[in-house]
Amino acid sequence: MQMHSQHKQPSLFENVAWSARVLQALNKTPALLALLVQGVTLGLIWLYANLWNEIPNPLFKLDLTFYIFSLVLLQSMIATTIATCVGMAVWWRWIHFFFPIALWMMSIVQVPSSVYLLGFIFTLALYWTTFKTRVPFYPSRPAVWQALFQYMQQRSAHQPLRMIDIGSGLGDLSMYIAQKRPNDVVEGIEIAPLPWLISKVRSRIKGSNAKFTIGNYEKLNFADYDIVFAYLSPAAMPNLWKKASQEMRKGSVLISLEFDIPEALPPQVIHTGKSTPKLFVWRMS
Ligand SMILES: C[S@@+](CC[C@H](N)C(=O)[O-])C[C@H]1O[C@@H](n2cnc3c(N)ncnc32)[C@H](O)[C@@H]1O
Repeated sequence: MQMHSQHKQPSLFENVAWSARVLQALNKTPALLALLVQGVTLGLIWLYANLWNEIPNPLFKLDLTFYIFSLVLLQSMIATTIATCVGMAVWWRWIHFFFPIALWMMSIVQVPSSVYLLGFIFTLALYWTTFKTRVPFYPSRPAVWQALFQYMQQRSAHQPLRMIDIGSGLGDLSMYIAQKRPNDVVEGIEIAPLPWLISKVRSRIKGSNAKFTIGNYEKLNFADYDIVFAYLSPAAMPNLWKKASQEMRKGSVLISLEFDIPEALPPQVIHTGKSTPKLFVWRMS
């Protein structure tokens, strides 16, 4: 009796399609893809260096520093090439090129390992899950806070509003609005521990009414707010729009600084100044 196997071998096309899907998923978390690219390159360099050792080559063996630098340069070039092939953005290619060289230079000046540890802890506390959220910390400017305040005054000069800054950073925007509109309920939520701690301490010292919590805004219910303010990044906008349009009440307002949402209806645009970004405003219907 002839037996037929239930499991068909995947075709070359299926394999390529599968790899493309993995690449697409990895491209959504570029920091992980970057780590993978450097890791794979390091493996190749290690293999190459071991093979090279088998072959007598007096030129490189004469000067160990030159030999190591040539390997570092090779790592830079191969990683940059792989990053280009897998479609990483231009700034990532620059990072791939200069990262191994920077590491090599740091190893020459012999920076104590405690400096790396402190640097790592500080960066972690400041940026936390940026590699996943793709929203780093950078503060908005006073001209923006003033423009937001003007908008809120036009919207409702006397009626108290409940407003939240999702990704509140050091808390300046929320504290400004809380001071200018003392009857409002002003909140900020921040995912990274260091900016959150700083905002909390500063609001205590200043005696601000603004409330700061640590956490992920994705866990909030936007239906609780009249105004949701966001200063995030282009990568976060599609999901933000999905959440806002599902949860926000009719008449409530989503405001995004600098980043428009291509999926959304055309917003009201507010200019905040010559050198500051625009505010995009969507009133929910
Ligand atoms: C560009 S900063 C804006 C800071 C502040 N809103 C301002 O206007 O100065 C964005 C902040 O959002 C935070 N963030 C990113 N994703 C977040 C999330 N899912 N939940 C809460 N905070 C988030 C980041 O840690 C960062 O501090």
